[in-house]
Amino acid sequence: MQLPVDHDGDLTYSSYLRLPHVLGQQQCRSSPVAHDELLFITVHQVYELWFKVLLFELSNARDRMLAGDAYRARLRLGRCHEIERVLVNQVDVVDTMTPRGFLEFRGALGSSSGFQSAQFREIEFLSGVDDTSWLDAAAWLSAEDRQRLSLRLAEPDLWDSFVVLLALAGFAVTTPRQRSAAFCEIATGDDRYSALWELSEALIGHDQMWSAWRLRHQMTAARQLGGKAGTGGTTGGEYLAGRVQLRFYPELWEARSYFGRPDEESLEHVHGADA
Ligand code: HEM
Repeated sequence: MQLPVDHDGDLTYSSYLRLPHVLGQQQCRSSPVAHDELLFITVHQVYELWFKVLLFELSNARDRMLAGDAYRARLRLGRCHEIERVLVNQVDVVDTMTPRGFLEFRGALGSSSGFQSAQFREIEFLSGVDDTSWLDAAAWLSAEDRQRLSLRLAEPDLWDSFVVLLALAGFAVTTPRQRSAAFCEIATGDDRYSALWELSEALIGHDQMWSAWRLRHQMTAARQLGGKAGTGGTTGGEYLAGRVQLRFYPELWEARSYFGRPDEESLEHVHGADA
């Protein structure tokens, strides 16, 4: 790949990072310019940059799992956790905005909203969400984004690849009940399954960080908007409250109910004999 150079031919900090381009992209739309709009644009752009890195790391974690490499998959997820922690804490900066400060430029946002973020949805799809309703309704997407997201939905996600690893370790994984039994087994502390257990914990950690972000974001939206509708066309607070319940790996959360009583009877009780 050709790296950018300054006019005298030497690579510099600025040319390597393409700073003139990056720093030229924070263009406020309010007129006169509202004081808080620069912050709002910058925070969202920083999120999208981190989303790009997350997609890179999560894709690699998925690929490592499909290759049978639990160790590197967990390493990648560990990095994702730290990035996600930054994403949750970054909402604090937005809270320094007052609701009236936000209203000074809200009109300039038009119908744009974080709801439309293609990378946010791509992370959800790659993590294990199979819901196509957002994609079906997303008339705002470019053809390129739509194709990328459709491919993400069609390819194995993190959950699929974790189940592949369980199968490689010899577990039956066809039904929820079989997978519950596998989770109970790898949670016992048996050395043979320590890599799988740590990986399942890393997946739960990833899920937990996204749930924490949804809750944190919901509170900020409520703090700014009260009961007002969102710019993206949803009911706002009510919609976001519903989203807080979303989990990428419900089976991993549910399995916690069986730990300490991993007998077949208790699993049948929850899943039914054949499920
Ligand atoms: C910290 C920066 C922010 C980011 C990265 C962000 C991103 C997002 C994302 C990804 C969604 C979709 C959530 C989902 O479908 O589960 C969303 C929705 C939404 N966000 Fe934010 N958001 C941010 C700040 C804010 C602020 C400050 C407000 C309120 C002033 C807000 C209000 C909303 C609302 C009401 C929705 C629902 C969709 C709609 O109708 O617009 N967000 N946001």
